[in-house]
Amino acid sequence: MTMLATRTTPPLNHRNPEIADWVDDIARLTTPDEVVWVDGSTAEWDRLTKEMVAQGTLIRLNPEWRPNSFLARSDPADVARVEDRTFICSVDPDDAGPTNNWRDPSIMRLELSELFSHSMRGRTMYVIPFSMGPIGGALSQFGVQITDSPYVVASMALMTRMGDAALEAITPGTPWVPALHSVGAPLVDDDGVRHDDSAWPNNENKYICHFPESREIWSFGSGYGGNALLGKKCFALRIASVMARDEGWMAEHMLIVRVTSPENRVFHLAAAFPSACGKTNLAMLAPTIPGWKVETIGDDIAWMRPGPDGRLRAINPERGFFGVAPGTGLSTNPVATKTIWGNTIFTNVALRDDGDVWWEGLTDTPPAHATDWAGNDWTPASGTRAAHPNGRFTVAADQCPTIADDWNSPDGVVIDAILFGGRRPSTVPLVSQARTWQQGVFMGATMASETTAAATGEVGVLRHDPFAMLPFTGYNMADYFAHWIAMGERLGENAPAIFSVNWFRTDADGRFIWPGFSENARVIEWIVGRLEGDLAARATPIGGLPLAHELNLDGLSLDVDEIRGIIDLDKTAWRREAAEIADYFGTFDETRFPIELRRELERLTRELGPE
Ligand code: GTP
Ligand code: MN
Ligand code: MN
Repeated sequence: MTMLATRTTPPLNHRNPEIADWVDDIARLTTPDEVVWVDGSTAEWDRLTKEMVAQGTLIRLNPEWRPNSFLARSDPADVARVEDRTFICSVDPDDAGPTNNWRDPSIMRLELSELFSHSMRGRTMYVIPFSMGPIGGALSQFGVQITDSPYVVASMALMTRMGDAALEAITPGTPWVPALHSVGAPLVDDDGVRHDDSAWPNNENKYICHFPESREIWSFGSGYGGNALLGKKCFALRIASVMARDEGWMAEHMLIVRVTSPENRVFHLAAAFPSACGKTNLAMLAPTIPGWKVETIGDDIAWMRPGPDGRLRAINPERGFFGVAPGTGLSTNPVATKTIWGNTIFTNVALRDDGDVWWEGLTDTPPAHATDWAGNDWTPASGTRAAHPNGRFTVAADQCPTIADDWNSPDGVVIDAILFGGRRPSTVPLVSQARTWQQGVFMGATMASETTAAATGEVGVLRHDPFAMLPFTGYNMADYFAHWIAMGERLGENAPAIFSVNWFRTDADGRFIWPGFSENARVIEWIVGRLEGDLAARATPIGGLPLAHELNLDGLSLDVDEIRGIIDLDKTAWRREAAEIADYFGTFDETRFPIELRRELERLTRELGPE
């Protein structure tokens, strides 16, 4: 018997026997020592974090610098999303499409039942009722995650609305997504022998499985981020994208911001960039140009649905940020550095000797000595990185100094413009505006970006990442493109304007030409100028481009010729791009692929003309 006030029977059990039955089934399958229904209280957070510190999973940071904050070091083999172990288990493989790994759902279920059998032996099984989006909101959805990782519980407490308030709202008949997670490291083996726990239990055999027809998630073997916090990528993107297709809305890998111009005109932008390509940074932008204000609503995921007035409304389904730490510093993202003043879980960053955290880019001068993310002694002379490139901070959104007062509004905000962007060292200009919704969908569908450390695999390789959703669309990508076309038809005149942006053009030495970060406000100023109808654009085959003198470059010490180079159409590069896009479109099933996108490609090719 434990001395702690844990609950082994569901509170409010009577309200939803369906949840209680599922929890019982899973407990019978995974055979944990005890079952704890998470309530979401501060006392629970204190208890869990204390237990994890005692166990070695968390290191308490010096409260003088970072109150109520912790560092976790993962297993070096469990540091990012595992895309090659992520599966869409639709009945028909064509419904998963050419961009997803598919497994037969009945075979996968058998395999998973074996993996999960006794997988929690010796551990505590936590039940986390949660809501994505404000509880009870029209655009929100419920889920219940079961996990044997207290780190996941604490992270879900920061990232979602969870606990008693969510459970109470999931009345019988209310849809909820079952999301099962185990680190896959039982503490008691088949012979009944008990093992010591490790600081970061996981299993080298990882499975991140989604059942789109029954809207279920089964995740095994990883304790990290998108693999384990199932409300985020697994639910809010992969499963939600399927719901959105079926129900006429959109689940997107997008930040949401409110921009106020010096004339006090208010606009809302949503932007899709691939993982580690600048969403969190843009969401917290501190504009350098006078009179502009940017407020944060979301930094990673947007759920969007046409409202009663026919305009597209968006909510951020999350309650916190799971942000990339390296590169986040006072000069690049001062807002994020203020957000993480305390109450933050850091994962895979360096520990300073004074008990605070550090990572590359946090300060210009590294500490003389630190402990690196893997727990080794580190000095600037070590020649290695102190923080893992995918080291993260997890923090509640309401700590963000620029969070919008009404970011919690269940009705969301009306989206005026959608931005698409990626890491493109060449070809794609700083900004261009789609002539039509269809050309905007073409921009989204043809997005490509250099790979980053946010997923395992090689870094810096250019790959197609349509709508920044390549790893996150829970169904056939060609159907997803068609869904975007259909949403545009439904929105008609109310459809948001669409822009393509690229902060990542490089010079001959591989240096970024555009200063980026806070200076991206200048591009936003141009976009707002277009929305207001104040600024002109040069019509080109790839959309409307800024006139050089209308882009505000005041106070930037920049090579003007270089800037002209990145805002212009590079016809030679685009002819190559168009040919490459034709090959790419050829990888999709012709019968599912929207004709509108083929027409856009034909038009682009024709307008670019021959060499
Ligand atoms: P996920 O949270 O993984 O979906 O990624 P994200 O899109 O939120 O990426 P984030 O904003 O955390 O940025 C990731 C990396 O891009 C960091 O290393 C940043 O320093 C870098 N970055 C962000 N914005 C800019 C920019 O405007 N210019 C340049 N050069 N780098 C940027
Ligand atoms: Mn993301
Ligand atoms: Mn982010």
